[in-house]
Amino acid sequence: MGRKFLVALGGAALALSLAACSGGGAGSGGDTSSDKPSDLTIGVSMPTQTSERWIADGNAVKSKLEAKGYKVDLQYAGDDIPTQSQQVDQMITQGADVLVIAAIDGTALNSQLQAAAAAKIPVISYDRLIRGSKDVDFYVSFDNYKVGVAQGTALLVGLGLLNKDGSKGTAKGPLNVELFAGSLDDNNTQYFFNGAMDTLKPFVEDGTLIVKSKQTTPEQVATLRWQQETAQKRMENLLTSAYNDGSKVDGVLSPYDGISRGIITALQNAGYGKGAKKLPVVTGQDAEIASIKLINDGVQNSTVFKDTRLLAEQAVNAAEAFLQKKQPQANDTETYNNGVKVVPSYLLPIATVYKDDIKATLIDSGYWTAEEVAAGQAKK
Ligand code: GAL
Repeated sequence: MGRKFLVALGGAALALSLAACSGGGAGSGGDTSSDKPSDLTIGVSMPTQTSERWIADGNAVKSKLEAKGYKVDLQYAGDDIPTQSQQVDQMITQGADVLVIAAIDGTALNSQLQAAAAAKIPVISYDRLIRGSKDVDFYVSFDNYKVGVAQGTALLVGLGLLNKDGSKGTAKGPLNVELFAGSLDDNNTQYFFNGAMDTLKPFVEDGTLIVKSKQTTPEQVATLRWQQETAQKRMENLLTSAYNDGSKVDGVLSPYDGISRGIITALQNAGYGKGAKKLPVVTGQDAEIASIKLINDGVQNSTVFKDTRLLAEQAVNAAEAFLQKKQPQANDTETYNNGVKVVPSYLLPIATVYKDDIKATLIDSGYWTAEEVAAGQAKK
């Protein structure tokens, strides 16, 4: 109500507040603290619908905000950077009062952020930190370095080099492993990879683990846009180039369930999982239902569960705080430097899920039902 402003110029570098009138609003630089929720709109920009977690994130943020009476403009960008820029531009011109953004490319939204700042629209970076801009007001995510540590640890546990309690396992090397990382334009990728590599490093250094392909740098192991097919192709190439001498892959570090499924498909197509040729230990992240079934069936080793319901809740809390002209509550004000400033953050805990944990962590908490796990498909 009562707020109108226009963002001029294709790049949206300049926002002009034209007709801020009675009701006021963050979008027009006014005070929203006395506005009714139904007068306030939150723009929610999500990267893609190809991964079910972002669908769940989008739905959770939307429904929690709507339950409080706010209007929500939820958009998915199909993993296309210009589409996301356009959608965010549009949210700004249409008078959003707060923006919640999970960026495809952490550095590609700078002009949108400048426009948002000019219009005094607070920006909450959702799970993926927006980099290189001072106009990011808050960050909600998980402890991303710990996600990487959990993935590295799960690989070691799966290989029998460690026990779940952290003590030394009974397996002896050398064992062959291959490494995968996420999309290099996603700020999280470096945290996941560094956490995992710090954990695996002593075992690589003493020769217990061998990366037979010798591909170990982030550039060599990255997976653009986290795509399953890209990961499948790379695993196929690794098998034909580094394992054509009869040797076997024993473990694969994977940063995300979609990538894990691509890796597993490549391995199965090459005869792994049949007879004596055991599938390697493959890690994951996000507790996607298709992967939970694979874990339950003993095909994928593990995943890292990040409860998107809690993340959505933190995004909603932060949005509400901004609308009431308060600072959201941060629990980390040191870790997430986006290149220009340290962005105050709320970081949530994570949990490793092996087969034995599916019931307690995912089913009992209502994240997935037993039927969904058995089917490998979400019901909704
Ligand atoms: C990351 C996120 C992961 C995973 C990945 C691929 O930014 O932290 O949980 O979802 O994107 O979508």
